[in-house]
Amino acid sequence: MRGIEQIPWLYDLSMLLMPGLQRWRRSLARLARGRVLEVGCGTGQMLPLYPDSVELYGLDPNVDALLRAQRRAPGAKLLCATAEHLPFPDQFFDTLVSSLVFCSVADPDRGLAEIRRVLKPQGRLLMLEHVHAQNHIGRWVLDTLQPPWTRLTGGCHPNRDTETRVEGAGFHIEHACYKASGLMRHFVATPELRAPGRASGSLRASARPS
Ligand SMILES: C[S@@+](CC[C@H](N)C(=O)[O-])C[C@H]1O[C@@H](n2cnc3c(N)ncnc32)[C@H](O)[C@@H]1O
Repeated sequence: MRGIEQIPWLYDLSMLLMPGLQRWRRSLARLARGRVLEVGCGTGQMLPLYPDSVELYGLDPNVDALLRAQRRAPGAKLLCATAEHLPFPDQFFDTLVSSLVFCSVADPDRGLAEIRRVLKPQGRLLMLEHVHAQNHIGRWVLDTLQPPWTRLTGGCHPNRDTETRVEGAGFHIEHACYKASGLMRHFVATPELRAPGRASGSLRASARPS
């Protein structure tokens, strides 16, 4: 069954009720550099917000949403694909962006592994996501709401511990750009690099010895 995420006009209408989200998107988009991929770009709410200097790619499994996205950002290269199977070579992008997507990706661990693969070692992952509640009552409420909410929206899971997954996928979340408000998170993550000759442990890309 289709949900709000699969009906582009309804999704865009719902976004009019949340103008604050566009401020979060703008604040994240201005951090993008170089060759940029926005995973799950949907109807392209964020695409016009990037600096003119970037080479912009967008990807989403929903063709109807991509048609709307192309009108919003005629210069962007758009593809129909999923985060779990990114049709790009290793270390291709300087910046990966995900805005309200990892609540919906069917296999988030696989999607994050793919992002890690196509991101350059010095690249950055920019994320705007809502996450699971931190307290017991909030977690119970979101766990209870999840099945009907996922059906209504067409895939969104309100109870994912996305930050923990991002770290588990080998990223370090930077403190400098971290913003949290209620269940919303805005952050920058960089790939951890395995320290040579060590079975475990890692170095941040920015701390890599020359
Ligand atoms: C809540 S919308 C967010 C759209 C847009 N990023 C924004 O900020 O408005 C979630 C988007 O994730 C897309 N999506 C769902 N599963 C996905 C997957 N496995 N890989 C990539 N995108 C996916 C949906 O098609 C939808 O466009």
